[in-house]
Amino acid sequence: MALFRKSREITDFQIGNKVYLRGLIEYSNVCAKDCLYCGIRKSNRKQERYSLTDEEVIACAQYAFEQHYGSIVIQAGERSDHIFTARITAILKEIKKLSQGKLGITLSLGEQTLETYQEWFEAGAHRYLLRIESSDPKLFAKIHPHDKGHSFEHRLKSLHDIRKAGFHLGTGVMIGLPFQTLEQMADDLLFLRALDVDMVGMGPYIEHQDTPLYEASDFLLTRQERLDLAFKMIAILRLMMPDINIAAATALQAIDPMGREKALKYGANIIMPNITPNVFRNQYKLYEDKPCTDESPQECTTCLEARIHMIGSKIGYDEWGDSKHFNAHQKYINN
Ligand code: 5AD
Ligand code: FES
Repeated sequence: MALFRKSREITDFQIGNKVYLRGLIEYSNVCAKDCLYCGIRKSNRKQERYSLTDEEVIACAQYAFEQHYGSIVIQAGERSDHIFTARITAILKEIKKLSQGKLGITLSLGEQTLETYQEWFEAGAHRYLLRIESSDPKLFAKIHPHDKGHSFEHRLKSLHDIRKAGFHLGTGVMIGLPFQTLEQMADDLLFLRALDVDMVGMGPYIEHQDTPLYEASDFLLTRQERLDLAFKMIAILRLMMPDINIAAATALQAIDPMGREKALKYGANIIMPNITPNVFRNQYKLYEDKPCTDESPQECTTCLEARIHMIGSKIGYDEWGDSKHFNAHQKYINN
């Protein structure tokens, strides 16, 4: 397809043929929120809950460091109580220490106060992902409860606070949600550009049986159609924002075993191998058919390397692989 060829050409020209790794640590599935699409929502009583111990998180980070991953992502269900935020701060400092500052850290821990974002930034994290999920407030309202904890305006405020705290800003959307129109998806792309984000992670919506949105499954496109739309969104975004980092989301692999690799061919340049200890992987189930829940971190590493080489890309070992866009707009702001 001409679109995919063009986005490949632009990716090669702007950021090269290198893929950067972010070892994904699913720190905890305890969540204070109740998003209607998500398997780890607070009201899903069927879901057993876990949190890694500090030692376990630090061991994951050590593993990523030894494997020359360059960076990690710490992701969890959303909590903003002091016990949680202080623990994260302590863990960040510890990880920075064990890697002599060399391991890059991305956080994906939801909506927090500006003070918490600042505290985490100062403790050593430097990138933050918070998906807007849909840039259309009306669709956002259809897939979230209507209360203060799930407000579109507050999500937007958080995105601005993340940037204010100094982080590289990442956001993203789900593709193929029930009731979502092509026009809304096009608007999502315009939203990402208007916000001038540094990083994007977006993937297909995948239904989860134990969530309220499952009831709207009759309104869904086929999984293959959602996947194809996700590839197109990635390719178009690459044309629109040539120098940002785009992640090949794990949800792509839930539909197609080669979903992430295809996304890398069509313009994504980041992949997040799961390095969560095996016993917990099955419990961090945001959606059905989540891949790699039986594989160990070691198996994932070997498997991913083979897959990336198969598509003819190189891995940027020991590099942060920061978004070039961030540096470009910082220069612009500073001048
Ligand atoms: N299908 C696809 N993606 C999902 N996420 C949560 N639930 C689902 C689902 N059912 C995504 C959201 C969230 C990210 C951590 O996972 O976009 O921001
Ligand atoms: Fe996890 Fe292949 S990427 S087993």
